Amino acid sequence: MSNKKILLANPRGFCAGVDRAISIVERALEEYGAPIYVRHEVVHNKFVVDNLRNKGAVFIENLDDVPPEATLIYSAHGVSQAVQQEAMARGFRIFDATCPLVTKVHKEVSRLDEQGYQIVMIGHKGHPEVEGTMGQLPPGAMLLVETVADVAGLEVRNEDKLAHVSQTTLSVDETSGIIAALKQRFPNIKSPHKEDICYATTNRQEAVKKLAAICDVVIVVGSPNSSNSNRLREVAALLGVDAYMVDNAGCLQTQWFSGKQRVGITAGASAPEVLVNDVVQTIVSWGYPTVTEDAGVEENIMFVLPKELRSSS
Ligand code: F3S
Repeated sequence: MSNKKILLANPRGFCAGVDRAISIVERALEEYGAPIYVRHEVVHNKFVVDNLRNKGAVFIENLDDVPPEATLIYSAHGVSQAVQQEAMARGFRIFDATCPLVTKVHKEVSRLDEQGYQIVMIGHKGHPEVEGTMGQLPPGAMLLVETVADVAGLEVRNEDKLAHVSQTTLSVDETSGIIAALKQRFPNIKSPHKEDICYATTNRQEAVKKLAAICDVVIVVGSPNSSNSNRLREVAALLGVDAYMVDNAGCLQTQWFSGKQRVGITAGASAPEVLVNDVVQTIVSWGYPTVTEDAGVEENIMFVLPKELRSSS
């Protein structure tokens, strides 16, 4: 009798912000027809983006590529003030698919700046969310740290008037290490009332830790540019289990499962459940007949759509 089994993490996959961002693009396509322009991939998932592209979404990085009077949607990661001002000046019909939890950080940044604080952002250089959040203030106003080592090199204006914020999709553990280093060097640094790392990131990391503790290998469904999916793989790997991230079932490799009894599967916040199902079915077909799902924590957060896009039905 085979002991080989698959354990599914809970929660996994879509978060409320991703759900809302995709719905905004779909509803805009229904309401105004193709093409609908989207600044940056609306969420970092290849399957989702390809699907929306087939329905008539056009993903652009530069507003020069958007024709006058077009409909433009900002991605879930948010945009800088400069992008917002340029888009408004060009007269596009604009919908903001920025996750409300990212917008919350943007507001925090403006408030702290008004109160005279210099802000240190914890995040990954070049990630669109970091560009959007740091772009709430003029270039050079905010400081970025990516690692504990970066803290030592910070040159601040006044260490008694300093605050920190973070990207919403970071590793909870790694970020607390960076915050501890910031507090050690700058004891008066102001922390957010509530941690900026979002509920979805936190819950998925907790769930993958539970899996990693009882599995021999962990598979994370997610695209290579998805920050929170990469973190899930890292969190599992740090607990000493083999962990791989795959965009879809076609990326799975049989040798990863050689000698492994328990396979854990999770998915990043931008990865649709249909891809998880394909991955599960493929691994089942490789000789893992039992599939169980962890009870996990229940998520009941939902974000409303902009009112012009709420369906009348
Ligand atoms: Fe928002 Fe967190 Fe999802 S910031 S888009 S709820 S991963």
